[in-house]
Amino acid sequence: MQFSLRAAFVAASLAAAGNVFALSSSPALDQHAEQLLHDRLFQTNLRGPRWTGNENQNTLTSVVASSMEIAGLNVETLNYTFFRWDPRWWSLSLKLKNGTTMGLPTTGYWPYSGDSGLRGVTGAVHDAGSFALFPNQTANPDSLDWTGLPSGENNIVFFDNPSPTRNYSEPGYGLLGSSVAASAIPELGNLTNPHWQSTKILNWTAIRELGVAGVVTSWVHTSDENGALQFLPSYGAPGNGSLFNVPALFVGNSTGETIRGLVRSGEVESATVVLDAPSSWATSSTVIGHLAGKKGSSESILVYTHTDGPSIIEENGPILLLAMAEYFAAHPININIDFVLTTGHMSGQHLNESRWMDERPALMQNAKAAIVCEHFGAMEWKDNFSTGKPVYEATGKHEPMWTMVNSSSASNELHQLYLDAFEGTPDTLRMAMVSPQVVNGAQSNWYGAGGSRTLGYSNIPTIGIIPQPDYLWAAMPDGGWSKLDVQMAITQINVILKLIDSLDQKFVAGSL
Ligand SMILES: *[C@@H]1O[C@H](CO)[C@@H](O)[C@H](O)[C@H]1NC(C)=O
Ligand SMILES: *[C@@H]1O[C@H](CO)[C@@H](O)[C@H](O)[C@H]1NC(C)=O
Ligand SMILES: *[C@@H]1O[C@H](CO)[C@@H](O)[C@H](O)[C@H]1NC(C)=O
Ligand SMILES: *[C@@H]1O[C@H](CO)[C@@H](O)[C@H](O)[C@H]1NC(C)=O
Ligand SMILES: *[C@@H]1O[C@H](CO)[C@@H](O)[C@H](O)[C@H]1NC(C)=O
Ligand SMILES: *[C@@H]1O[C@H](CO)[C@@H](O)[C@H](O)[C@H]1NC(C)=O
Ligand SMILES: *[C@@H]1O[C@H](CO)[C@@H](O)[C@H](O)[C@H]1NC(C)=O
Ligand SMILES: *[C@@H]1O[C@H](CO)[C@@H](O)[C@H](O)[C@H]1NC(C)=O
Ligand SMILES: *[C@@H]1O[C@H](CO)[C@@H](O)[C@H](O)[C@H]1NC(C)=O
Ligand SMILES: *[C@@H]1O[C@H](CO)[C@@H](O)[C@H](O)[C@H]1NC(C)=O
Ligand SMILES: *[C@@H]1O[C@H](CO)[C@@H](O)[C@H](O)[C@H]1NC(C)=O
Repeated sequence: MQFSLRAAFVAASLAAAGNVFALSSSPALDQHAEQLLHDRLFQTNLRGPRWTGNENQNTLTSVVASSMEIAGLNVETLNYTFFRWDPRWWSLSLKLKNGTTMGLPTTGYWPYSGDSGLRGVTGAVHDAGSFALFPNQTANPDSLDWTGLPSGENNIVFFDNPSPTRNYSEPGYGLLGSSVAASAIPELGNLTNPHWQSTKILNWTAIRELGVAGVVTSWVHTSDENGALQFLPSYGAPGNGSLFNVPALFVGNSTGETIRGLVRSGEVESATVVLDAPSSWATSSTVIGHLAGKKGSSESILVYTHTDGPSIIEENGPILLLAMAEYFAAHPININIDFVLTTGHMSGQHLNESRWMDERPALMQNAKAAIVCEHFGAMEWKDNFSTGKPVYEATGKHEPMWTMVNSSSASNELHQLYLDAFEGTPDTLRMAMVSPQVVNGAQSNWYGAGGSRTLGYSNIPTIGIIPQPDYLWAAMPDGGWSKLDVQMAITQINVILKLIDSLDQKFVAGSL
């Protein structure tokens, strides 16, 4: 797989190199820019995940900021200090009444749930059943069964944890256009994805008050490989310096069945949950790169992304935006471009990733259009249930390029230019433009880097691009490299270059 990908990349690069004149008519990265993009993605991935405020994230934002400066942009950094939760070692064991201690595999931890230290917390195990979903796929916190919870302060609670699904074919979303026939995007009607666990939050304060000192929860209808190291949900204790105090671990479905069986048959004396995860103050920056247009006026196009996360797919936005910035620095247009690379996406809301909006209000005031870019080049992986149990595997397709848009007519021109920018792209690039609607008084969610939603509902016409692969918030031993198709990311970048260029033509014509 890796060899053929690499071969495709080289072949395409050589083709591009021999085709300079054809390329100059439609904006596109040249071979040098393509190689740079590849090198930057590869080398960034080598350093490990860019968790909010870690050394690797700060290195990425600093090299991108310096490179934008070298390209000729005016660069500003907004520096923040925030309370960072840092999971280091975690493990699970069961002590049985017959004297045996079993070590059990985990798939990861529940972010921000707590810090047990290396000694862990040990207590009697109570099976609270299922953290169930309502039919509308929202979490039902009252579904957990606390009856029979032993008295005392150190109980370990187990429950299974089904993932919500989403359906972009339901009335909560309107399909406003696509780059291929909608029938080629069956995912529209079937968004299975562990990532939707992000909405299943619990009141840890209330759970601690019940005498719960640790939690073990299992994936349902999901393979262990797909559930592995998912950073879900991402919601920290409110305020600074405070932590939730119920260290919690995720296990795979079969491990969950083992625990449930042993508890039911009365064989378990205690469980020990180890989640060594200290918190400390950390720094992190939002980067703003301003590229002045030839006209010298204040109007701009806002191009937005986030910089933190677990994989080279989740936080490749800064590298995509740098390639775009360098392209337009070398091929100047009339309108300004503001590139905003925000931090705080994975901070469990300890660092508000939309703060730049209030701190630099001119960015919003000057914007005539906004384009949010993240997760380009994502290949699709799904659990395949054809054998009866889930097997996590590549589907052979790319993740649809989901694009959130506002259905108001004020955004029609942008939508049309965006659709036009896909002309000539391969059928493997499947883009669907969906618009969150209000149904029965409930506003469907606009997904994307924090603030994408704010832009989407403002008076700034906005394209919010967010491919949503199953592994979006998963840490992976290879950093996600094997799930990234650099050539597809290049094709997607070229779509955005074309869109920005056509917006500039409208700007010159006075119709933007
Ligand atoms: C923000 O932090 C960066 C990196 O440490 C530093 O170079 C820059 O001067 C700081 N900016 C401000 C405004 O303090
Ligand atoms: C204790 O019980 C476990 C689970 O039933 C079993 O696998 C193990 O062999 C038992 N150990 C002893 C010493 O009987
Ligand atoms: C989902 O259903 C539950 C239970 O009927 C209800 O309380 C909740 O408000 C609903 N949420 C949404 C977003 O519709
Ligand atoms: C998604 O919604 C559409 C429209 O209501 C429906 O036809 C389809 O069966 C739904 N998909 C699933 C997996 O339920
Ligand atoms: C939705 O996808 C899941 C997993 O990919 C699959 O098991 C299920 O059959 C699909 N449902 C429909 C209605 O396509
Ligand atoms: C969580 O539970 C605590 C303690 O019972 C309660 O004071 C608090 O209001 C709850 N928080 C929310 C958001 O419901
Ligand atoms: C395992 O997954 C199945 C569905 O695939 C579910 O019915 C069961 O409750 C799950 N068990 C646990 C312990 O998560
Ligand atoms: C948390 O600390 C940061 C950095 O000192 C500060 O900007 C922020 O206002 C504080 N938040 C709260 C809720 O106190
Ligand atoms: C985050 O910051 C934005 C912009 O300052 C603000 O509108 C929003 O209310 C903040 N969100 C939270 C949860 O504080
Ligand atoms: C699921 O697995 C079966 C059996 O291995 C295979 O025939 C099928 O093509 C797979 N489905 C998808 C969508 O990849
Ligand atoms: C976006 O939608 C809101 C209503 O949800 C509307 O007030 C606003 O004008 C729209 N903005 C654009 C640019 O389409």
